[in-house]
Amino acid sequence: MNIEHQNKQTFFIKTFGCQMNERDSEIMAQLLREAGYAESFTVGEASLIILNTCSIRAKAEQKVMSLLGHLRKNLKKNPDLKICVAGCVAQQEGVEIIKKMPHVTLVLGTQNIYQLVPALEYASQGGSRVVTFFKYKYSIPRFLPDFSLKYSIQPFRKFITIMQGCNNFCSYCVVPYTRGREVSRLAADIVDEARVLVENGVKEITLLGQNVNSYGMTNSVVKDGSRGVYGFAQLLKDVASLKKKGLRRLRFTTSNPKDLTDELIACFAEIDILCPQLHLPVQAGSDSVLKRMNRKYSIEGYLELVNRLHEVCPLIALTTDMIIGFPGETDSDFEQTMTLLNTVRYHGSFSFKYSPRPGTRAAEFPDVVPEEVKSARLTRFQQRQDEISLERNREYIGTIQKIMLEPEAGSVLLSRGRTETNHIVHLQEPVKGVAGDIISAEIVSAGQHSLRGKAV
Ligand code: SAH
Ligand code: SF4
Ligand code: F3S
Repeated sequence: MNIEHQNKQTFFIKTFGCQMNERDSEIMAQLLREAGYAESFTVGEASLIILNTCSIRAKAEQKVMSLLGHLRKNLKKNPDLKICVAGCVAQQEGVEIIKKMPHVTLVLGTQNIYQLVPALEYASQGGSRVVTFFKYKYSIPRFLPDFSLKYSIQPFRKFITIMQGCNNFCSYCVVPYTRGREVSRLAADIVDEARVLVENGVKEITLLGQNVNSYGMTNSVVKDGSRGVYGFAQLLKDVASLKKKGLRRLRFTTSNPKDLTDELIACFAEIDILCPQLHLPVQAGSDSVLKRMNRKYSIEGYLELVNRLHEVCPLIALTTDMIIGFPGETDSDFEQTMTLLNTVRYHGSFSFKYSPRPGTRAAEFPDVVPEEVKSARLTRFQQRQDEISLERNREYIGTIQKIMLEPEAGSVLLSRGRTETNHIVHLQEPVKGVAGDIISAEIVSAGQHSLRGKAV
């Protein structure tokens, strides 16, 4: 055992779900370090285990429950062990988690993570073990990263959450329930956070929100309180101005197509450090399915956006999310999904079988698609996507790409990097430099999931 840790509380955080959860885990880690905890690199040694959970699909939630069951064993070895469930399952299930898993110390909701340390203390002393309230008027506190605490494995690439929650209520989705109403952070706080990151050597920033395109639409993000005067395109430009301090790349995710404006599309031409890459989840290829999903755009409108994006930024790499087997999805609806895939030819996509979620409207919809039909459709979709990804990747062979170097997992050797389009390039030989440097590489071959290149 590490001597330094002997008399110290140690924590281990396991993160499920999206990048917003990853960022929340970083925040919780910082709060714990500031409170005197040290990070433990194994679950076994930690005196506090936090599961930061996701409930987007049933499977994600089941994983959390089975892991909680397993942790009973750790409690036998260490009766003082504290277990905290945070994130979207915590928010949605609340006290039900304690009922099923009485060994859990604290259930912490998505809007309560800043209270982690006092809530944990209170719960340990016999106080409330479920802290999952949504405030009527929620605002996201100013919280700057502390670089006196050096800990990140990829210190040159960071996420910044620019907004919380979602107001779109797509009929299949739990997020509006687990994260609450949409709230944007103050623009000045975001730019300050970005500045602190860049001044400490961060080279790439990704701005995060469930629908970043509607940043600044539901509450004021400027100090004088006026609403709707400062939008996402302006925020991008203000963050991009940190180029003068050393920021090299800027990305954002996720964009709901219904709110993708011309002004935002134009940013791909106007902002040189904005990477030519966009995740634009479409969810289905048929208008009738989109309507029942409450997505508020048509395939025709979506394809127009794709065309405009290509006009402004011909080399843009598009990726998407697709839900397969939504209630009422017919063979013909699914064929339209395949047609869309073949039309846009996405560089990559995340596709999932529809999973009914408690409390959402679609969970009550009739004409449920049988499991084996969902599986067959998903396989067909994914096989075709794999072929297209390979074809797309081959288009890079012979080109020179600027790649940002990163260490291979578990190594210090710089033998890979990422293109501006976010493709991984494995180098034939490791190069000298530091992670976050950008070098030129010639692409020599391509696989389904990555490219191979040599430094030039
Ligand atoms: N805010 C993002 C999506 C966040 S959730 C957007 O609007 O695009 C990430 C992805 O999970 C979604 O894009 C969707 O494809 C998938 N998803 C969400 N709910 C789902 C469900 N009930 N079943 C299957 N997939 C789901
Ligand atoms: Fe869910 Fe729709 Fe909101 Fe995305 S936009 S988080 S899919 S409700
Ligand atoms: Fe999952 Fe919650 Fe993110 S449900 S996808 S962790 S917002």
